[in-house]
Amino acid sequence: MSKTILITGAASGIGLASAKMLLEKGHRIVAFDPQEDLMRAELPNCEEVEFFCGDVSKTADCQSSVIKTVEKFGNLDALMHWGAAHSTKRWDELDAEECNFIMAVNVTGSFLISQAAAHNMMSHNGGSIVLTTSASMLYGVTGGNGQGGPAYATSKAAIIGLNRSLARSLAPKVRCNAVSPGIAETAMIADYSTDQRAAMSKRFPMGRFGEPEEIANAGIFLISEKASFITGEVIHVNGGSNFN
Ligand SMILES: NC(=O)c1ccc[n+]([C@@H]2O[C@H](COP(=O)([O-])OP(=O)(O)OC[C@H]3O[C@@H](n4cnc5c(N)ncnc54)[C@H](O)[C@@H]3O)[C@@H](O)[C@H]2O)c1
Repeated sequence: MSKTILITGAASGIGLASAKMLLEKGHRIVAFDPQEDLMRAELPNCEEVEFFCGDVSKTADCQSSVIKTVEKFGNLDALMHWGAAHSTKRWDELDAEECNFIMAVNVTGSFLISQAAAHNMMSHNGGSIVLTTSASMLYGVTGGNGQGGPAYATSKAAIIGLNRSLARSLAPKVRCNAVSPGIAETAMIADYSTDQRAAMSKRFPMGRFGEPEEIANAGIFLISEKASFITGEVIHVNGGSNFN
């Protein structure tokens, strides 16, 4: 059955891969991202796609995106929230301003977009929410060389608590789960040095980084009926990088 899915971070990487894969499967999508030109350049201009240029750390943008979804397609079945900000500063470089910015986008933003979607889903036919955490918070990344630092890792850890809280609050009408990607080939890791890439790949039993589609598949599974008894969980998609 075709669904209406609101996708944040849809201009790039895993969000873009999800958007394309869901369109191929016959679903309708609302692509939410602050990078409007990129999003419009990457995705087809067709009846099954609506664009929303916005910032998940702003309540009004989150609420408006849900209103626009319902105006365009009549319903909202699922939220896939991939959008996030990155911070590579080490513990002795990070300041309150960058820390607060990362928390506002990654933590408060995850809450605000989930809240906006949940208000609609709880008063209609239910639905499913997918949040995004990161293997970086298990490993304890330290920043520098393009990798996430303490602000990013902390923000991604907080999303696990939010996921559990929302899953319990919204059940049984709405399921809420999270995907935890390992390193995937997207713009987010563009600043990795060659040495950094080689060192990080060795950490992975699979011997390589993930492709955005390999991460997107986990989110697509979680919003499907095949995941109808799964809520409050985190699916790790990281080529085995949690082993060490
Ligand atoms: N790529 C990786 O190695 C990796 C690893 C672990 C987790 N993740 C997570 O996967 C998700 C997708 O990241 P990606 O790798 O595709 O990165 P990406 O940089 O390719 O895409 C991130 C997208 O989020 C959007 N975004 C930024 N700020 C936003 C905001 N305020 N509101 C809405 N959207 C915003 C960006 O414009 C961009 O399109 C993120 O949550 C990221 O933290 C990625």
